[in-house]
Amino acid sequence: PAIEFKPASRPLSAERREEVLTSPGFGHHFTDHMVTITWTEGAGWHPARLVPYGPLPIDPANLTLHYAQTVFEGLKVHRRPDGGLAAFRPEENARRFQASAHRMAMPELPVETFIAACEALVRQDRAWVPSRPGHSLYLRPFMFATESGLGVRAAREFLFVVIASPTDGYFAGEIRPLSVWVAEEYVRAVPGGTGAAKTGANYAASLMGQAQAVAQGCDQVVWLDALERRWVEEMGAMNLFFVHGERIVTPELTGSLLPGITRASLLTLARDLGYEAEEARISLHDWRRDSADGSLTEVFACGTAAGVAPVGSVKTALTQWTVGDGRPGKVTMRLREALGEIQSGAAADTRGWMREM
Ligand code: COI
Repeated sequence: PAIEFKPASRPLSAERREEVLTSPGFGHHFTDHMVTITWTEGAGWHPARLVPYGPLPIDPANLTLHYAQTVFEGLKVHRRPDGGLAAFRPEENARRFQASAHRMAMPELPVETFIAACEALVRQDRAWVPSRPGHSLYLRPFMFATESGLGVRAAREFLFVVIASPTDGYFAGEIRPLSVWVAEEYVRAVPGGTGAAKTGANYAASLMGQAQAVAQGCDQVVWLDALERRWVEEMGAMNLFFVHGERIVTPELTGSLLPGITRASLLTLARDLGYEAEEARISLHDWRRDSADGSLTEVFACGTAAGVAPVGSVKTALTQWTVGDGRPGKVTMRLREALGEIQSGAAADTRGWMREM
């Protein structure tokens, strides 16, 4: 269906845009437009609108401000060697968006509508898709309650929005192994909670742990399970992988960690490359022991925003240790490159992961 379109009256000049695209960082700059779709109880999803990027009005009693009924996604659009544009597995993001919405008692946007909204924005603002190697356009679809009131209940009105931001990566600069701090005081998520949903509150819950990590001189926080404080769950806003020579293991999805799309893709890609790849429970104790005896050769984190990022050292309240030789490992770098090549179009997309936009 034709989308209602209101062009930006003052889009950024081509010169200024090129300046931004030279060194965009992550999440600092936004394209000229956004897509919005309203949902109301009874009427359901209203027609999509492609409108100038700009502030949304907010009532002080807006339910999201008080009770956090909100979900989001993150996906990237890459410029291909032929100049075409392709998104990485957007259907997976659309499905996870539905699962997150379900958990948060919000309406589920149809997969096709999610993708059509992303596509409409990318088509309109295609000049914003970076062409430098490793750079991409990060799409941030999100939805929140727009109804006002202080009664604690699911809202009857929501707004779905897609905004887009050019990026050169989440962690600035050269690849540098991350140092991680293991949170043992705070937890991010609990069994039966919202840990598997991509909802704002999980990220708010992570901020104190991240602040402690920084206070400890580390880059990122690592979360353990809430019940035993024994099993490794995830790192900051990313999933973790443990490399034992040719065998790659990632924490299994227990319901309290995020089912990452990069995580799932790397499990597949690792098998394609001839590694043994599996999901299992990994204890903090084993992480330390296997690092000490050398059987754990590499650890890396992964996510849409940062891609694949090596983890070089670990610190807890009682001890600290190095993983492997503390430098980016060869399996980490091989997977990072293999994924990057599929996304950039340098390698064949044999699994149909790239969707042209
Ligand atoms: C992603 O990898 O896209 C994330 O989840 C990170 C984001 C919260 C900044």
